[in-house]
Amino acid sequence: MAAVIAVQNLRKIVPATGAQAGSELVILDDVNLTIQAGDSVAITGSSGSGKSTLLALLAGLDIPSAGKIELFGDSIESLDEDQRAAVRLGKVGFVFQSFHLLDYLTAAENVMLPLELGNATAKARSMALDALNQVGLAARAEQWVSKLSGGEQQRVALARAFVTKPQLLFADEPTGNLDRATGHEVAELLFRLQRDYQTTLVLVTHDESLAAQCQHWYKLVEGKLQTGRVSP
Ligand SMILES: Nc1ncnc2c1ncn2[C@@H]1O[C@H](COP(=O)(O)OP(=O)(O)OP(=O)(O)O)[C@@H](O)[C@H]1O
Ligand SMILES: [Mg+2]
Repeated sequence: MAAVIAVQNLRKIVPATGAQAGSELVILDDVNLTIQAGDSVAITGSSGSGKSTLLALLAGLDIPSAGKIELFGDSIESLDEDQRAAVRLGKVGFVFQSFHLLDYLTAAENVMLPLELGNATAKARSMALDALNQVGLAARAEQWVSKLSGGEQQRVALARAFVTKPQLLFADEPTGNLDRATGHEVAELLFRLQRDYQTTLVLVTHDESLAAQCQHWYKLVEGKLQTGRVSP
């Protein structure tokens, strides 16, 4: 079976700013990575090491300076933006550090959004309520999300990410804005949903105890991908 993500010799170079203006900033340098269906993959690295840049590239939200990225077998550099969006639609979910919910909608309405965008309106509401039930928030479905706690908001974001049953989920520091205990609850939920739906998970985190729970752990150091797991 084809890999979900296959990356070869990936480089991302941007024009440097500030004192280095006029030169180039190498964010990612010769990254190679293969992710198989159902894998859980953690990416750690210090702030500014290129984790979010790599995630955006893997998701087809950005284009590489050099190298090859295949997403579900499609070479993303050969697709235009609309075609890349079509590859993502219904197959790829996202969870971010800063929840990215719409404050003027209820929890249920937020979870319905990706379904409505994918034209599944008729069943959207019951699917959203089911997804909220799975994250323990059935009773808060009609609440404005701005009234929910941070941990609850991230659970709504997880429900929204999983409601389309994505094959692939990108999570960029999903516990970064939460206190440690709440962060661990949200992470447990993320791993449970990932196992239940057999989702391929790419998780960027600063929390090495979360990274250690993934099947694969990589560390970005000076633009290069290294193995993150310390041998016992
Ligand atoms: N389009 C761009 N133009 C210029 N510099 C950029 C661009 N995108 C990212 N950078 C720089 O590349 C580096 C990597 O950024 P990135 O956001 O990927 O880091 P990160 O590992 O996600 O950091 P954090 O842990 O703080 O979220 C940073 O120094 C950032 O300022
Ligand atoms: Mg980042």
